Amino acid sequence: MSARGILLMAAAVATVLLRAARASDQSRVDQVPSIFAHIMREEQIYTREPCDDDSAADAFDFVVVGAGAAGCVLANRLSEGGNWTVLLLEAGGSETYSMSVPYFMGRLQQTEFNWNYRTVPSDTVGAGLAGKINYCPKGKIVGGTTVLNAMCVIRGHRKDFDRWEAIGNTGWGYEGVLPYFRKMEDMQIPHLKNSKYHGRGGPIKIDYFPYQSELSKLVIQAGKEMGYEELDYNGEKMTGFGRVQTTSFNGTRWSASRGYLHPIRHRKNFFLRKRSLVYKILINDGTKTAFGVKYRRDGKSFTVFARREVIVSAGPIAAPQLLMLSGVGPKEHLQKLKIPVIHDLPGVGRNLLNHGAYLGLIFTTDKPLSRTPPQVYGDAANYVDYFTAHRGPLSSVGIETVSFHELKGTEFYSPGYPRFESQYVSSTLIVNRETAGGFRIPPRLYDTYFKPLENKNSFQVYVFDLRPKSVGKLTLADNNIDTPPIIDTNVFGEEEDVKVTIAGIREMIKMMDTPSFKKVGGKLYDTPLPGCETYAFGSDDYWKCAIHKLSVIFYHESGTCKMAPISDKMSVVSPELKVHGIRNLRVIDTSIMPFMVSGHLSVTGYMIGEKGSDLVKKDHVL
Ligand SMILES: Cc1cc2nc3c(=O)[nH]c(=O)nc-3n(C[C@H](O)[C@H](O)[C@H](O)COP(=O)(O)OP(=O)(O)OC[C@H]3O[C@@H](n4cnc5c(N)ncnc54)[C@H](O)[C@@H]3O)c2cc1C
Ligand SMILES: *[C@@H]1O[C@H](CO)[C@@H](O)[C@H](O)[C@H]1NC(C)=O
Ligand SMILES: *[C@@H]1O[C@H](CO)[C@@H](O)[C@H](O)[C@H]1NC(C)=O
Repeated sequence: MSARGILLMAAAVATVLLRAARASDQSRVDQVPSIFAHIMREEQIYTREPCDDDSAADAFDFVVVGAGAAGCVLANRLSEGGNWTVLLLEAGGSETYSMSVPYFMGRLQQTEFNWNYRTVPSDTVGAGLAGKINYCPKGKIVGGTTVLNAMCVIRGHRKDFDRWEAIGNTGWGYEGVLPYFRKMEDMQIPHLKNSKYHGRGGPIKIDYFPYQSELSKLVIQAGKEMGYEELDYNGEKMTGFGRVQTTSFNGTRWSASRGYLHPIRHRKNFFLRKRSLVYKILINDGTKTAFGVKYRRDGKSFTVFARREVIVSAGPIAAPQLLMLSGVGPKEHLQKLKIPVIHDLPGVGRNLLNHGAYLGLIFTTDKPLSRTPPQVYGDAANYVDYFTAHRGPLSSVGIETVSFHELKGTEFYSPGYPRFESQYVSSTLIVNRETAGGFRIPPRLYDTYFKPLENKNSFQVYVFDLRPKSVGKLTLADNNIDTPPIIDTNVFGEEEDVKVTIAGIREMIKMMDTPSFKKVGGKLYDTPLPGCETYAFGSDDYWKCAIHKLSVIFYHESGTCKMAPISDKMSVVSPELKVHGIRNLRVIDTSIMPFMVSGHLSVTGYMIGEKGSDLVKKDHVL
């Protein structure tokens, strides 16, 4: 366990002791030994992460860059059977036990386990945030972003994938990808175990969080009163409400490493090198063939060779960055930065897709329906519940319900194909200075808009357009791997995305008219957002202003190495995920997505890894 992990645990146990002592509650003090025993037992799980390989071996059949969602799948699948050697290179270090506690998710941002990227200042998304800049977290750790995400499992709609296929990506339609979504899964939710849409026995466990707040139950009930179904939104139909399916098991995070790497730690043909930052893909300029990579570890440079292929799974920010630093990308851009051009590919870094969420939609109630972070952290019982039985509010990230809406009656309505998602945040995460700071909400904005809610019963709804029209781009600032790339998301850059969000907000407001919410005095929080007071509250112009000011990118960056046939000028990889114009080089992660999906991207990343590894295997018949 890392020093930070131990500190967190110690703090938790100390809180239990202190509180119990203050309340002279001997029964809680008595539970401390069992809490320690539990933590020590659980901690053993994380010693199953494969060891850091420090051999001098410098040639492998496959070299995979990045141990995130997709990279872990590739390492596992390409090393099964034992005939090929696979080296997985990861810039970050080991995952630790404290990262598996769902509620600690917020504490994993802005740490050294995170790349902590920033976007460029924007007038369309987060114009009211500090410096008009959005925080852009990404995991820098074995397991990648699956170690610090919110664990929601939302695949997207069948039409999303059919659209991928329609532009020439043969095999990537819904029927082509569904077997891989099933293959990755080990469904734990009893009534979904035998569904034809779900899988059992795969590496990634899917479960509900054990904890469900009153809010979650009430929202599902209110949804029914509005005429929506409660359903498996990853199944036959998507429109409706549901408890959120998560990449967790028995109240603990189930990361890419836990699922795909822990079980293969003894394979003799699999090697994992941690704290290894790849800074260049080696490509023979004459034959345009990739043959290895250069990486930096503990201040030293190393070269490794790939006998068969180099596979880039560094994620949507680092994959295009690495391609460009290696001479594959838009020619003029590379020349300006004095990077020798090996292959002119104008699409690299373009097509930056994302979701954008409005953060200011808050409802108040007469009764408490969920707990705020200070309430959760301040109650000794929560630690006892979690650290003995994996129950209680610490066993959830704070989001337990989602819903999908078709926006009937608007110009965006498409029957059966929801355009809008809402996430119900059980314990207004943002009504808390610390969490608000994580989103870069400046103190002044916090004090006027959020602080008045601190002692009220409230909850928040994160709302977003599932298929925004806005597309951004990623470029390099210079030719140095240590300089973060320039991330211009352009979220809410297109008027249509703002309009969809307004329509969705209005749908959410209607929920307060349901008997369920009337009973608890549900009301829209109608303090005008600072900077938007000049507009009539609730008018289109008001919401437009509010959305541009208090929105965040929803961390679903993708698309920066677009998959499409070569005839598409913006394409970077073929439907076999091979980089156009270069041999023995593929990109396999969420950067290949040609269009946004109506979902969240970790399971998309797993699916791409699973399908991608089969495509690789097909080309290397033993
Ligand atoms: C705060 C947050 C919340 C989220 N919530 C959800 C959610 O609830 N549900 C969901 O489905 N998705 C969620 N996501 C998104 C999801 O986790 C990611 O989209 C997904 O993990 C992307 O997978 P990937 O394989 O493309 O990249 P990643 O998982 O990011 O993996 C990339 C890996 O490559 C490594 N790497 C990068 N550059 C280099 C280099 N030069 N050398 C060596 N290694 C390198 C990185 O360190 C990392 O380990 C969330 C994301 C964030 C940030
Ligand atoms: C690996 O190679 C051996 C022979 O070299 C062969 O017998 C075996 O079937 C191969 N394994 C797989 C999974 O293909
Ligand atoms: C879930 O976790 C609790 C607490 O550690 C443990 O007692 C229980 O056996 C676990 N259940 C499963 C199915 O692993």
